[in-house]
Amino acid sequence: MKKTFHLRVNGVEREVICHPAKTLLAVLRDDIGFTASKECCGKGECGSCTVLIDDQPVCSCLLMVSQTENKEIITCEGIGTTENMDILQHAFVLEGAAQCGYCTPGFIVSAKSFLNDINEVPSKEHIKEALGGNLCRCTGYTKIIKAVETAAKMQFSMDEVKHG
Ligand code: FES
Ligand code: FES
Repeated sequence: MKKTFHLRVNGVEREVICHPAKTLLAVLRDDIGFTASKECCGKGECGSCTVLIDDQPVCSCLLMVSQTENKEIITCEGIGTTENMDILQHAFVLEGAAQCGYCTPGFIVSAKSFLNDINEVPSKEHIKEALGGNLCRCTGYTKIIKAVETAAKMQFSMDEVKHG
């Protein structure tokens, strides 16, 4: 039986009427219209559906909508838009880090969480480890890692300018 759920997605309250077992990924895409998060494996193995829930990266294909009420949900659209891109999105463009682009939103969400949690430019190994839950079928890892490194350098040089 369908029920009403109240979700907070990208800073906006949303009311959704659906079956409680519907996945968060399906709700985001079908009911709310945020289609950046992609379904690939549907089993928590590829990371293409990654969103932030209360600042933690999670696979939205593994969560039922009923588990996500009263939580802060951020999708790639909430990290930045075409008109107002996040530093990571700029870096992905700059480094040409997307081929088909299917995995890209998931990588950006995971990388955002990673960059939020560190306080110095990470090594490539550290970036690889942090993004280990995200797979790219086009195997574009070298440029993805480089883009995250570039974003980290941009982030920390901006922080230096801000804080002196
Ligand atoms: S679609 Fe969710 S982890 Fe692959
Ligand atoms: S760019 Fe195609 S799956 Fe990663």
